[in-house]
Amino acid sequence: MYKFPYKDIISTKQFTRNDLENFFKIAKEMENLVKTWEISDLLKWKIMASLFYEPSTRTRLSFESAMMRLWWRVISVADWTNSSLSKGESLEDNAKINSIYSDISVIRHPEVWSAERTAKAVTKPVINAWDGANQHPTQSLLDVYTILKENKRLDNLNIAIVWDLKYWRTTHSLVYLMWLFDNISFSFISPKELKMPEKVTSFLKEKNISFTETENYIEWIKNADVLYVTRLQKERFTDLSEYEKLKNRFILNLEILKNAKTDITIMHPLPRVNEVNLEVDKLPNAAFFRQAENWLYVRMALLHILLNLSEWKSFSSL
Ligand code: CP
Repeated sequence: MYKFPYKDIISTKQFTRNDLENFFKIAKEMENLVKTWEISDLLKWKIMASLFYEPSTRTRLSFESAMMRLWWRVISVADWTNSSLSKGESLEDNAKINSIYSDISVIRHPEVWSAERTAKAVTKPVINAWDGANQHPTQSLLDVYTILKENKRLDNLNIAIVWDLKYWRTTHSLVYLMWLFDNISFSFISPKELKMPEKVTSFLKEKNISFTETENYIEWIKNADVLYVTRLQKERFTDLSEYEKLKNRFILNLEILKNAKTDITIMHPLPRVNEVNLEVDKLPNAAFFRQAENWLYVRMALLHILLNLSEWKSFSSL
């Protein structure tokens, strides 16, 4: 079986193209397993610590569901106030304790580098489930897996990323994965207040990857093979008048999509508020709920690889 050369999953920058291609074969095998219920008894009795110090629906529940689909067990902290971190315990001490009671930790915490600090404190695997303004690497793995399934390729794609490119860390992580493939270009579509951060555009310049930045949804959507829409995150604004000024600026609807390629893939990390009109859901190109289903398979594959328990019989090709 393919094995990652990593103990922890902290950043999308750690992956190679070879890692991704092998990983997605395992995700596909997980999908087949869920659909055929071929789970081995050998996989029982592993425990995941599910440590969510910021709100989550999809990430927490898909990881916990992935564990249960693999017949493993979960212990969880779903709220900062229910953890001894709220009494002043250090992240490192807390991590050591969680690691005694479990075989792997999945952590979402508001501080940048909190996942890396946790990983350094323990010998068991740690998965970053979003560390403040930094990365959400497992979201990006399932985003790329979704692009592979929907577009049937990972090379020769224009990826348009729309709306809040400043605060949506998954868009940064996605860029750091997709540049690994051939002939990839990006269109960053956002108001100037929410532009892609300079660290990401500098990275693309350094790697000689083509990208455009624009406020014009309609002009740039026509080039896109993938349209990745994000939510305006009210909770990230210190000045709510700024949020009020920007909200409703971009709302994807069928009229705008008349300018798009007929085979465009429409994605969204969810949750959605109002940035994708409900009328879009009926299009076969609307992939966001299929994307949410893929979270399960990708997270099963990750847990399986990191816990490194047994060899699956064979891995079917995608
Ligand atoms: N996209 C995402 O991470 O969703 P949750 O915040 O619900 O986990």
